[in-house]
Amino acid sequence: MKVIILGGDGFCGWPTALHLSKEGHDVTILDNLSRRSIDDELGTNSLTNIPSIHKRLSTWSNLGNSKIKFINIDIAKELGNLIDVFKEEEPEAIIHFAEQRAAPYSMKSMTHEKYTVHNNVLGTHNVLLAINKMPNKKADLVHLGTMGVYGYDGAEFPIPDGYQNIYIENESGEKIKKEILYPANPGSVYHMTKCIDAQLFQFYNKNYKLKITDLHQGIVWGCNTKETLEHPDLVNRFDYDGDYGTVLNRFLIQASINYPLTVHGTGGQTRAFINIKDTVKCIKLAIENPPSGERVRIANQMAETFSVKHLAERVSNLTGAKIAFVNNPRNELEENELSVKNEVLCNLGWNPIKLDDSGLHEIYSYAKKHVGNINLEMIPATSCWNESKMPGIPTL
Ligand SMILES: NC(=O)c1ccc[n+]([C@@H]2O[C@H](COP(=O)([O-])OP(=O)(O)OC[C@H]3O[C@@H](n4cnc5c(N)ncnc54)[C@H](O)[C@@H]3O)[C@@H](O)[C@H]2O)c1
Repeated sequence: MKVIILGGDGFCGWPTALHLSKEGHDVTILDNLSRRSIDDELGTNSLTNIPSIHKRLSTWSNLGNSKIKFINIDIAKELGNLIDVFKEEEPEAIIHFAEQRAAPYSMKSMTHEKYTVHNNVLGTHNVLLAINKMPNKKADLVHLGTMGVYGYDGAEFPIPDGYQNIYIENESGEKIKKEILYPANPGSVYHMTKCIDAQLFQFYNKNYKLKITDLHQGIVWGCNTKETLEHPDLVNRFDYDGDYGTVLNRFLIQASINYPLTVHGTGGQTRAFINIKDTVKCIKLAIENPPSGERVRIANQMAETFSVKHLAERVSNLTGAKIAFVNNPRNELEENELSVKNEVLCNLGWNPIKLDDSGLHEIYSYAKKHVGNINLEMIPATSCWNESKMPGIPTL
C-alpha cells in the first residue's frame, strides 16, 4: 500500500515509518523538522543521539530495506505544495502525526499558544483540503488524537471509543435517543486543538465522505521498536525534558541518574498509557482495515490506566529512586479515576502490551546507557498553567 506519513521524523512517526516499510508498504515521509528546531529553541535534546533525517533514511535503505522517500514541507503553511504532493504520490493512506504535541509547550506563553493553534488546526485542515483535491480515489486518513480530548473526570463509566448515546427529554416527556461525540473537555491549548481537529473530521466526513480514523492515543512510554534497533542510526528520539518528556519515560530517566521522581501534586491523576511498540502495531491495523466511511471511526489507542503515583512507586521499587512530590504546574483535578474502552482496536486484533517489570527494566537500562547526554537543567517542568504553582526543583 502507498502510505504518506506526516510527521514521520518524530517520536511516534519514525518507528511507524520503519515498521510499515518493513511490512511491505511503500512509505513517504513529509515533515518540516520543527521538532528538531524546538529542541534548539528550548536548549534541550533527545537522550539518544538522532542523526539527520537523510542519514536515518540512507542507513535504512543501505541495510537492504525498501527506500523511504522524504519531503520537507510545512503542512500548516504550504497548502499548494501539499495538494501537489498528494496528487503526484496518490497515496492510499495518509497517517497524520504532524502536530505540536506537548501540552506544557502549548502553555508556555501567548506565542506558544498561538503557534500550537495555527500549526495544529491549520495543518489538519490543510490535510483535509488536500485529500479532497485528490482527483482519483481519495486517500484514507488516520490521525493521531489524544485521550486528553475527553478530560479526566469520568469515574462512573468507561469512556467509550469516541461516541456516546444520550437521551434527551422532549416537551412531551418522551426520551429521544441521540448519538453524540463524547463531550470534549480539553485541559490545555494542545488538547483543545485535538478537539477542534475532531470537529473538522466530522464535517469533512459528513460533507465530502472522506474516510477518517481518529486514534485517541494514551501517553506513550518506551523508546525503540524492532526496526529502530536494527542500527544505531535508526534509534528513536527519547525525550526527558519538562515539556516533551512523557511521565513514565521521565521517571525511568530520572531514576537512571538518581534524580528524585518528580510527581506533580499528589500523583492521584490517573491517565491512559500505551507502549511505543503498540503504537506502530495499531497504526498498521488502522490502515490495513479502513473504515466504511459512514462516519468518522474513533478508537481509543491505549492499553491500560495508572495513576502517576502508582507509576512512581513501581519505578521506585524497581530502581530504589526516591519520590519527590512537587507543586502541580497544571490546572487539573488532583485525583481522578479513569476507565477506558479500547474495543475498536482490540476487535481489529490488537493484543495490548501490559506494563510489567521487565518492560520497565528494559527502558531503565537503556536510559542508563545514555545518561551522559542528560542536561539536568532540562528536567524540572517550567511551563505553568498558573505561575503560583511552579513545581521548583526537588532536593538532590
Ligand atoms: N508522544 C505521545 O505520548 C503521544 C500521546 C498521544 C498522542 N500523541 C500524538 O501523536 C502524534 C505524534 O506525536 P509524537 O510524540 O511523535 O510527536 P513529535 O513532536 O515527536 O513528532 C511530530 C512530528 O511532526 C512534525 N511536524 C509538526 N508540525 C508540522 C508541520 N506543520 N508540518 C510538517 N511537520 C510537522 C515534527 O517536526 C515532528 O517530527 C501527535 O499528533 C501527538 O499529539 C502523542
